[in-house]
Formats: sequence, C-alpha cells, structure tokens
Amino acid sequence: MENQNKGPETGTKQETDKLWGGRFTGNTDPVMEAFNASIHYDKRMWHADIQGSKAYVSAIQEAGLVTVEERDAIREGLDKIAEEWANNRFDIQPGDEDIHTANERRLKELIGPTAGKLHTGRSRNDQVSTDMRLWLRGALRELKTCVLDLVKVMINRARLEIDVLMPGYTHLQRAQPIRWSHWLLSYAWMLKRDVERLIELSERVNVLPLGSGALAGNPFAVNRDFLANELGFSDVSGNSLDAVSDRDFVAEFLFWASMLGIHLSRWAEDLILYCSKEFGFITLSDAYSTGSSLMPQKKNADSLELIRGKSGRLFGRCSGFMMTLKGIPSTYNKDLQEDKESMYDTYDTLSGTLKVSTGVLSTLKIHPQRMRGALSPDMLATDIAYYLVRKGVPFRQAHGLSGTCVALAEKKQCLLSDLSLEDLQSISPCVESDIVDLWNYENSVDQYKAYGGTGKVSVTEQLRKLSTWLEGLY
Ligand code: ARG
Repeated sequence: MENQNKGPETGTKQETDKLWGGRFTGNTDPVMEAFNASIHYDKRMWHADIQGSKAYVSAIQEAGLVTVEERDAIREGLDKIAEEWANNRFDIQPGDEDIHTANERRLKELIGPTAGKLHTGRSRNDQVSTDMRLWLRGALRELKTCVLDLVKVMINRARLEIDVLMPGYTHLQRAQPIRWSHWLLSYAWMLKRDVERLIELSERVNVLPLGSGALAGNPFAVNRDFLANELGFSDVSGNSLDAVSDRDFVAEFLFWASMLGIHLSRWAEDLILYCSKEFGFITLSDAYSTGSSLMPQKKNADSLELIRGKSGRLFGRCSGFMMTLKGIPSTYNKDLQEDKESMYDTYDTLSGTLKVSTGVLSTLKIHPQRMRGALSPDMLATDIAYYLVRKGVPFRQAHGLSGTCVALAEKKQCLLSDLSLEDLQSISPCVESDIVDLWNYENSVDQYKAYGGTGKVSVTEQLRKLSTWLEGLY
C-alpha cells in the first residue's frame, strides 16, 4: 500500500526492464502497474501460451528467421517453463504484466538473448487472441461433456419413470395431465439445442489469429497454414485487423452460457416448486440440500436456488462484456483485456452449475402418488370437448358445451367426473355411456400420440431420438 500514488519518479520498476520499455524513460506508477496487469488471472492460459510459442518458433525457423539450433533451444526453454507452471514452481516477478511477458522474461533467463528472437513478427495482439481461442477450445470440450452427462441422466430417468403421471402447468395453474418423463425430456431438448449451438460456436472459435502481428499482418511470410496445423485450428483468420480486434467468439460463448444458464434456472425453479411441501412431488437428496441455522425442520433446496441464481451472474458477464466491446475503435485496444475474467468466470460458474445439476437429478426421489394425487377431474375438461369432437361436434361448440359441464359441476358442488350421464346428456345429446372411459388419466395422456406429445408412444419416440443423438456425440 505504501507506494501507492507516489510520483512517477518514485516508481518501483525501471522501464528499461520491460519488454516494451524501449521508448520509455519514466517509471510506471505502481497503481497503474497493478491496474494494467493481467498476470494474476491470465496465467490460467500458460499452457496455451507455451503451445502457441512452440508452434510460432517452428514457423519462423521454416521462414529462415532462426536456425534449427535456436529453434530447439527456444522449444526446450519453453518446455522447462511449462514444467515450472505445471508443478506450481513458476515464480511470478513484479514486472510480469501478463502471461506473455512472464513467459518471455523467463525464457530469456533460461536461454539468454536467443529468447529475444521468439517474438519476431509476432505481437501480443495476435498472441493473446490465439491463447484465448486455444484455452476456450479445451474449456468448450469439457463443458460439452458436462451438458451431455446431464442429458444422459434426464434420458435414463425418463425411460425408467415413463409411467408416472403428473399435472402439466400453464400460468402455474394445473392444465392437463402429462407424463413426468415428458417434463424431464422437455429440458433434454433445450440442452440438445445448447449442445448444437456449442458445436457451431466451437467452429468459429477454432480459427487461427497468429500471424496477424500487431494489426497489419506478418512481414516474414510465416506459413500460417503450418501454424494452424500445428495448433489444431481448422481455419486461418482472413484479415489481420479483424483477427486482433475480434472478440465475438468470447461474446458468443458468454451468450451461449447465459442461454444454457437460463434453461437450467427454469428447470431448477420447477424442481424448487416440486420439492416444496405444497407440491411434494420430489425429495432432494441430503447431499444437495442444506438446513437452517434457526429452524430445525427446514431442508432447503440451496443447490437449485444457486443454479437459479448463477444464471443472473452468467448473463451479467455477457451483458457487461458486450458493453465493453461497444464503441471500441479498430483494432486492438486495452479494453479487450476485460475478456478474460468474463470468460474464466463463465466457465467456472457453468462447470459447477452443470455438475451440481447432474448430481441433483441423479439423486432426487420422486413421489408418484403425490403427483397423481395432484391430478383432478377438472383437468379433463378439454377431454370432454375432444370426446364431443370425436362424436362430430365442431370444436368451438364442443369447448362451450364442456364449459357448461364445468359450470354445472361447480353449481352442484361435485367433481366433473361425478356428473351423471343424464346431467351430461342434458347438455349434449351426443354424450353416450362410453363417456366413463374418459375419467382415466392414462387414457387422457395417451391420446397425445402425435409426435412430440405426452402419449407413451410419443415419449418413447422422443427417448429413441434423443438417445441416438446422444450416443453419436459421446
Ligand atoms: N494482456 C493483454 C490482453 O490481454 C495482451 C495484449 C497486449 N497488447 C498490447 N498491445 N498492449 O489483452
């Protein structure tokens, strides 16, 4: 704290030590030094940075800028640095502004002035974007597995519990009977789209910016296809100005995570309701619940509440970074350094959210009797209308007649299913004795046979499609 706000001449670091210090004579204010530094978070990309540098030195050797011996010395030095990072032995120095400068500083210490040749034609501008893309590529692979794990639990439960019925809701009012599996799979379909989006965005992430220099390109004719191949990129950026400015790949990732977070938040909200005493449809495992420090009887669904809460944080990261991007002139500007914390935090948040979601769903208990007990004959009012339609009554008229039945039951203070055949026939002569088959929830649910509905045939077909899709991706 002591050195804060002292004049430039009392700063701690001689600029000549800095990798970019050539033109500077004064020192950096320590407050500015700390403000400018990203090493404390971008060190997470140490592996990507080393990978990128190893590929780059091979490319400049091919281009005749370093000898084979120099290339090998640099690559060996980089391997040593990687080992230090991997074993938690890398010593971050006060002047290490970011992961790129830290690694290069260390390389010089290890192999001497030859280290200074590594950066030939390269800038931190093309380097940082390359590192970010390499890091994100790996992170996306892991997140994809996490989403697929959750979908798998949804599918397995839906298959095992296909005969369980529960109320379906609109406006949070009991609407029509549905299968519990149908509810489970509704989220599997959302997550399937999230995985599809992830696969599409991964392609856009997997484009090589290295070889774009600071902004104008590379003057030494480095072979960028060689670089792409070495680093496993499937494409090479087509414009150097765009390559160093572009952070849409980060923004797209943040949006993707926000959308997935919102799906999980709605899923969690449903389950929070279902595990309340009022619903009592499910019980969460103790492993994913917590107690109250005051009320001994409480068992709180903290896991689900956190999942719901984290979605706000994910979207906050997305909207915050979009605001950072807005209005930045071309090409690289330091504002872009703000991309990293958003990206890492989003990855960490989502990775935790997905793992907890999978844990919650694979361990919760369902209470089929409670779900069934929440069904009531009034939820079959639509079925009366459909019954009349099947007897030839136009739907609009049938809907009105069914409404009259509901009103009569209310007037008589009885259940819809307790209205007598005479009562029903007084409303519509089309009602016959087979109306009794209607008061059966299984029959009600199974009429929704058209693909996508809650009938057993249709849910089985959904299971088949989702399983085939999932198997193709694992
Ligand atoms: N730490 C910087 C970042 O993350 C690296 C790029 C710095 N480039 C520059 N021209 N100052 O954005």
